[in-house]
Amino acid sequence: MLENLSAQPADKILALMATFKADPRSDKVDLGVGVYKDATGNTPVMRAVKEAERRILNDQKSKAYVGLAGDPDFSAVMKDLVLGDSVAQERVAAVATPGGTGAIRQALELIRIAAPQATVWLSNPTWPNHPSIIKYLGMKTAEYRYFDSATRGVDFKGLLEDLEQVAEGDVVLLHGCCHNPTGANLTYDQMSQVISLMQKKRAVPMVDIAYQGFGDGLAEDAVATRQIASSFDNCLVAASCSKNFGIYRERTGILMAIAKDADQQALAQQNLAFLNRQNYSFPPDHGARVVTTILQDPELRADWEAELEETRNSMLALRQQLADELRRLSNSDRFDFLADHRGMFSRLGTSPEMVEKLRADHGIYMVGDSRMNIAGLNAKTVPVLAKAIIDAGI
Ligand code: LMR
Repeated sequence: MLENLSAQPADKILALMATFKADPRSDKVDLGVGVYKDATGNTPVMRAVKEAERRILNDQKSKAYVGLAGDPDFSAVMKDLVLGDSVAQERVAAVATPGGTGAIRQALELIRIAAPQATVWLSNPTWPNHPSIIKYLGMKTAEYRYFDSATRGVDFKGLLEDLEQVAEGDVVLLHGCCHNPTGANLTYDQMSQVISLMQKKRAVPMVDIAYQGFGDGLAEDAVATRQIASSFDNCLVAASCSKNFGIYRERTGILMAIAKDADQQALAQQNLAFLNRQNYSFPPDHGARVVTTILQDPELRADWEAELEETRNSMLALRQQLADELRRLSNSDRFDFLADHRGMFSRLGTSPEMVEKLRADHGIYMVGDSRMNIAGLNAKTVPVLAKAIIDAGI
């Protein structure tokens, strides 16, 4: 049987992680996978997470199964964190999932059950695992233009032109905030125009929100998602706790399906629980319990918010430092976009050959499409990167 297998395409982000690990240079710089690192290169366990884990260790009386949809308290705190009061909670079906990727996978499987003919529209570019999972599930996909390689901002005209082609019932996948891989985001006004267009086309929005709190703030980063959720009868929202709680390996995420009314919500809830059962039965609980413990406790929540804010500000400071350094070295403002981008990533907007040159000559690792993880930098490596970019002639 196994002789029939052929090699699967490598995920380019994960492949880069392996190449970085194998590089013996001590001054190599990892700007690959999206993991936050502090100034010492460590990915810390957040203070509130440590305290929540301590409490769970002390107080937890059982490890028995929780429920197919996960803990209802986790769903409640996450609905509140992501959706606020944009929709009535009774319209929202929700299941805990293994990370944000699990939520995306379940969302796509739900779409495949409910609308097998629907095309899922993805921004070009998008997180590479989006098209990969869609293809694996045998679903139809199309792209809408997103990135303007001249300005390194959003190609809004191209985006609107392409979304004009969306058919009724198609799904449009949008990044809730902090677009991955570009770092370029729609303004609130642009998002309103996209919403109007999707309403006109009778499309169904799907939101991937994996970086809430990494852009402009927890509430600010949820504005687009809430605006979308409140504007449609149906909408899917896949949220990740990996980054904003720093619990990457705990695999903590949630899929929320916003239904038209309570009857539809019950049906969606039943289908989501079914999908969990088919794919992995009960979702992981530890990370979800940590998140619930933090969000339900005012003191822990305040401490988590404060540390998240420190994290966000440190990424903004690195962006500014890099933009300033490049302005100085290039004698131009052509890298100012780095300070305008938001979230963990920025697309530098250079060729794969240049990306390879930065790796070979300077030990600087970024994804082949020139996505840089800004959180992989520190005050010392920013000048090294800036000099390498200029030396390479970018
Ligand atoms: C990334 O884009 O680097 C992260 O979302 C990690 C991953 O799983 O790819």
